[in-house]
Amino acid sequence: YKVEWDIVTAEKAGYDHFMLKEIYEQPKAYRDTMGARIDDAGKRIVLDEVKMTAQQIQDIHQIHIVACGTAYHAGLVGKSVIESLARIPVEVEVASEYRYRNPIITPNTLVIVVSQSGETADTLAALKEAKRCGARVLAITNVVGSSVSREADDVIVTWAGPEIAVASTKAYTSQLIAFYLLGLYFAQTLGMQEAEVIEETIQALRQLPEQVESILADAEKIKVYAEQISKHDNLFFIGRGLDYAVAQEGSLKLKEISYIHSEAYAAGELKHGTLALIEEGIPVIALATQEELLEKTVSNIKEVAARGAYVMGVGSEGNEEIAKAVDELFTIPRTLPLLTPALSVVPLQLLSYYASLARGNDVDKPRNLAKSVTVE
Ligand code: G6P
Repeated sequence: YKVEWDIVTAEKAGYDHFMLKEIYEQPKAYRDTMGARIDDAGKRIVLDEVKMTAQQIQDIHQIHIVACGTAYHAGLVGKSVIESLARIPVEVEVASEYRYRNPIITPNTLVIVVSQSGETADTLAALKEAKRCGARVLAITNVVGSSVSREADDVIVTWAGPEIAVASTKAYTSQLIAFYLLGLYFAQTLGMQEAEVIEETIQALRQLPEQVESILADAEKIKVYAEQISKHDNLFFIGRGLDYAVAQEGSLKLKEISYIHSEAYAAGELKHGTLALIEEGIPVIALATQEELLEKTVSNIKEVAARGAYVMGVGSEGNEEIAKAVDELFTIPRTLPLLTPALSVVPLQLLSYYASLARGNDVDKPRNLAKSVTVE
């Protein structure tokens, strides 16, 4: 009996791929990113690394979130989080567009750059442009001492630990946690939410790691569905609100490593064109975790199902309505609507992973892609 063991396998800690290991490291990444940033009583956010004074926070008229790839998708969630908790207007843009279009930046603009590596050329250039125009820049990054962290005025480090797989998983979800903390921090500083709301959100945040663990325990279910979709060349993701933001990340993940073409659509926009592409047997992954939008999303699911789509739904536990409308259902534990992205993205990560595996691809090193794009 020969034991095969090398340094790379050792680093993978028994997992077949870095991506899978990193997916399973998410509960720890959530806990570490929250860490000491919640006070012992669980009532307030403590963000000592943000040096902005209360007055400076009050003076923010608008926020621009700028990033690339997966980090941009975290920004889409960040917009909802900051707008709903702190009521500050937020725009989100990919860095390669933002840096060249002469955006309206004033000293009352806060620019938030999001970058796992902290080295992405376009993101760094956008940061410099924002500073040149007099904005304050806050960076959310996973790498201490990275270029982005050195240039920014304030830095929130995501404590996801090193991410090796090209397709980002734990860095994305840690960016979401950073946005929850920041949104709550702004809300508490501006007095924009009742203390009970802040406390309730903190409590729900603290439950997320355990809830992710329960999703991971159910991974086999996703594997079966992933093997089915791996036989297709086209599919769609649909969702509304935060579900739409997560749908975009799910679609990117799938493209990156399985090479299956997919598009994410705002469910309500389907009837303005994309519905024409729905034909017998095409897989549609429908996210329906947002209670207030459920009825609307379910009616979109019925529209695609009526045209022959094979629908996998991702919904919150105990939701009968969606269970009836879909062919397959994956449920996630209940949390506050604002926090669902930190749970609903996990089955989509697993879906991409297993679809890539089923197609025999190099999961950790997809063709044509690099982990960090430091040149234009
Ligand atoms: C590359 C990676 C993506 C990543 C993007 C932004 O394209 O393949 O996974 O989301 O860069 O990287 P950053 O390090 O700035 O978050």
